[in-house]
This record gives sequence, C-alpha cells and structure tokens, in this order.
Amino acid sequence: MVEALRRMEYRGYDSSGVAVLDGSGASRVEKKEGKLANLEAALDSAGHDSFPGTTGIGHTRWATHGRPSDRNAHPHVSGDVAIVHNGIIENFAPLRAELEAAGVELVSDTDSEVAAHLLMCEMASGPHAGDFVASCRAVLNRLEGAFTLVFSHAAHPGTLVAARRSTPLVLGVGKGEMFLGSDVAAFIEHTREAVELGQDNVVVLRADGYEITDLAGEPTEGRPFHIDWDLAAAEKGGYDYFMLKEIAEQPAAVADTLLGHFQDGRIVLDEQRISDQDLRDIDKVFIVACGSAYHSGMVAKYAIEHWTRLPCEVEIASEFRYRDPVLDRSTLVVAISQSGETADTLEAVRHAKSQKARVLAVCNTNGSQIPREADAVLYTHAGPEIGVASTKAYLAQITANYLVGLALAQARGTKYPDEVAAEFRQLEKMPEAIQKVVDSLDPVREIARELADSKSVLFLGRHVGYPTALEGALKLKELAYMHAEGFPAGELKHGPIALIEDGLPVFIVMPPVEGRGVLHSKLVSNIQEIRARGARTIVIAEEGDEVVRPLSDYFIPIPASTTLLQPLLATIPYQAFAAEVAAARGYDVDKPRNLAKSVTVE
Ligand code: M6R
Repeated sequence: MVEALRRMEYRGYDSSGVAVLDGSGASRVEKKEGKLANLEAALDSAGHDSFPGTTGIGHTRWATHGRPSDRNAHPHVSGDVAIVHNGIIENFAPLRAELEAAGVELVSDTDSEVAAHLLMCEMASGPHAGDFVASCRAVLNRLEGAFTLVFSHAAHPGTLVAARRSTPLVLGVGKGEMFLGSDVAAFIEHTREAVELGQDNVVVLRADGYEITDLAGEPTEGRPFHIDWDLAAAEKGGYDYFMLKEIAEQPAAVADTLLGHFQDGRIVLDEQRISDQDLRDIDKVFIVACGSAYHSGMVAKYAIEHWTRLPCEVEIASEFRYRDPVLDRSTLVVAISQSGETADTLEAVRHAKSQKARVLAVCNTNGSQIPREADAVLYTHAGPEIGVASTKAYLAQITANYLVGLALAQARGTKYPDEVAAEFRQLEKMPEAIQKVVDSLDPVREIARELADSKSVLFLGRHVGYPTALEGALKLKELAYMHAEGFPAGELKHGPIALIEDGLPVFIVMPPVEGRGVLHSKLVSNIQEIRARGARTIVIAEEGDEVVRPLSDYFIPIPASTTLLQPLLATIPYQAFAAEVAAARGYDVDKPRNLAKSVTVE
C-alpha cells in the first residue's frame, strides 16, 4: 500500500495515512503530517505485523479544508468506519452542524470527516441499519460537490464501497485481488486491466469481483480498458511531462476553483477574518505577486477596476516594500502565490500588515505561510503542480482573482446581485471552452517544431491581451531559454518595432468579437505594421474572426468569450508552444535550468 501511495504522492504530499482491516472486526489506522516518509517511519516503528489484513485504504492529501496535520490527515474514522476522500464536499457545513447537534464529536477541520460520521450514524440507526452498501449509498445521496470517496467498515472486512463525482477513480481488476486508485499508477504493478467509472457510479469491491451501480442502486457498467503504459508514463497519466498533464488538467483546475464560491446568490471567500464593513471601506487595491502570479494579477486589475471602480495597482512583490507604497487600513493588498511560500510575496504581505493594510491571499497551498498571515483567503484548487512552469495554477489564479473582483463589487454594491450572478455564470462556462482549446493544441505544437530554432520571439496584445503576452514570453524564456518579450501592441511604435526583421515570429492575441471595435481595429493596424517589416505573424483569435485570418501566417482559433475572460483561453496555446519548443531543443520541460518551483529566498 505504501508503494501505491508513493506513486500517488504527486497528487498531494502534505500528509498521508492508511487504515487496514484485520478481518476480526478491528481496523488499524496510522496517519502522519508531512511527506510519505513520515508515515513509513511510523509504520516501521509500529512493526508491519501490527497491520495484518487483506483489505485497506490509503490516502495522500493536498489540503483544501483544514491545514496539514495528523488530525486532518485521512483516513477519517468514526467507530468501525474509515473513509478516504478526494475533492470538496460543498455542503459539509450544514452536515457538520447536524452531526454536532446529534452529539457527534468531530475531531478535524476537514470537510471529509462528515462522510465517516454520516456512515457510522446510517449503519447504527438509518433506514438500512447494518447494511453497509445501502448505508453508503444513503450517505452519498446526501453529499454535494465533487468527491471520490472510499468507505471501509471493520465488521465487513472483505468489502470496500467507493464512489466518484467529478473527481477521478479507477478500478484495477486482478486475479483474486481488486484495486482502486485516483489513477492507474496506484496499481499498475499488480494488474494492467482497469475499469473507468462513470459520474455518480458506486462500486462495491470484493477480492473476487465488483459490482457497479448508480446512486439509486441500479446496476450500471464501467468502461474496461487495458493499460499499456509503463510505470513512469503511468505516473504522468501517459503524458511525456507533468507540464503536459497539467495543461490538460486546466478545465478541472478552473472548475474546482469556482466550486463552492457562489452560495445563496453571493460570492464567498474561503476564510474571512475581516468584517464585511471593512471590506466595504476599502478605497484602493494593490496586487502583489511574482512571475506568472504577477501576470495573473495584471489580468485581475482590468476586472477589479471595471467591476468595483476601485483604483487597483499591480506590483512585482520584490519591489513593493522597497518603494514605500502609500498604505493604510482602507487599502486591500491581494497577495497571489501558488506555493504560498514565495519569500518576496511573503515579505510584501508582512510590510502591508505593518502599515495596517488588509491582506487577502489567493493561494494554491492550504496551510502555507502567506494564507496563514492573511486576513482573508481564497484558495485556488489546481491541485499539486509538479512542472516548474506555472500552467494550471496560473489559470486557477486568474479564476480566483475574478472571484475576488466580484466579492469586492458585491461588498461595495457596485454590482447588483443579478449582475454578480451573471458574471459567475460566464465563469462557469469557461471549463468547457478551456477543454476545447486543450483538445486542439496539435497545430500549435507543429508551429513550435517549425519555429524551434528561432533566435527571438515577440508577443503582443492589448488590454488583457497584454499580460497574456507577458505570460507567453515568460513561458518561452523559462522553458526554451529563448529570447522572448511581451509588449502592449500600442507601444511598438515607441521603440520595439526596431526589433522587427525578416522572418521574426510575432504572436498576437486578438480581442474577442465582443470587444471588436477600437481595440480590434487598432490591433489589425499593428499587425499590418509588423507584416510590412517582414514579421511572421501567429495570431490567436476567436474562431470566425475572418478580418484577421488573411493577416496571419499561422492562425490559432479559440472559442468565443467575453474580453475579460479571454486570458483563460488565449494563454493555453502559449503554454503548449513553449513546452514543445523546449522539448524540440532537448531541454527538461518539467525542470528548467536554474529554477525552483518555490522561491523561498528574497
Ligand atoms: O508560488 P508562487 O505563485 O508565488 O510563484 C511565483 C513565481 O515564482 C512563479 O509563478 C514562476 O514565475 C513560475 N516559474 C512561472 O512559470
């Protein structure tokens, strides 16, 4: 089991645990904060003989609700029940209140724990008391959100019950043994035969077989498949690099980041230690961040100023505190960080707090330092990002930043509730559009291979297309070690146009048709200007933008969106382009030279 957890560790590594049923009506649980090595050490010191049994569940955690700790690690236990959970149980708060009112003591800060207690109660006194499978179904029918759940019960040692909704779960079919995993890497050394489970499927697993039903108990079928990946490929979900896998995970990263943040007609943050009145009193916003997170902040500026009418400045975190910015208790400083540990951003937060400003953190890592020190937090739910280059975390940051903008507009009353709801609905449509872009990247990769020997590449955009240009250039620099620069297209004539020479590749993001008008026609003029000087134009534009197609040496269509949300789509071809150029040049896509995933020194 520990070996399987090691292969799942890339999905989360802030704590881990196992529960093993010994067959005589008892189960042994061990769980530890930190890397898997901590759990291994605990198991070793307990002695493997103290964990006898042939049925067990295990988990590696990436914290969402509740910081990493032994207490919050999975499995969660209630009487004879042990459960592991991946995802977010959105209605955990009322369920928790109901359990507490019934006298159940909850010991963790997680959303997951409620599932264990609900099953314990169902098994004790529910309509299907004593029936393990029916009781699991009864619990699953009460849960909202996204979840993969596996239930065990000490009095039913030969059986596991599992289910999935919007998060992964695969079944491994062995000879006289069965497996479950978030992906096939968990069991590939034991079997190559697997079954993909559908949405809201419940699987009952025994050593010699399995049954799949829907939530009502009606039999249904999974999709059997043979795994032909080797072990290394399986860990990367069959992709050559983690970065490619992470690009493909972007629809889920955006959808998961939105999940649970619009309740009863209102945008809700994850943690808010400032009053609504304080939020209403904000009169200026600073965004501080580094690298890609900074670019996501630049996108946010357009949304925040447009929706809230508050002045918003975006600052490179390492510059912020050294220039003595004007801050007071009516200033909101939004700190954006995937890792939550970036030293420059952390110091900017500390400086802001020392000047009495309020701090809101947008972060992907629960329990990390920046959200700990902030007054309010909105977590991105991109999951662990292994590739050094930010991809899914970046799109999740942009998404969370929009939610921050809407939360501020709601608090200040600059948007009516129905307008906030309408903006949220637009956001909810984005994962589908992102999926379309992810599914159509092959032509971009072909362009990348063609241009892999270029000395330099320029990226142009206007409005939110400008930060997108900067992000495109950063991706190419950090992965392919190629000179690349991003410019606001209107700035060209003020100097950079001197860089244009015959054959120079220039990427341009066109505003969507919705924004066609001044912005669109100005960019068309910019394209004419650089083409006249020999540039090769690679244009990312809304499908059906026939005005710009004839001006494009390469045309990359993306789905329609509003102008503000377009970076969620237009960035993706840049990620794929940079990864492919890096691969074509023989570089390590996941670990570019000189870089670290989190920069914890100033
Ligand atoms: O963990 P953070 O979001 O604070 O990291 C910020 C930057 O170091 C990070 O975005 C960096 O620029 C990436 N390598 C970009 O791909």
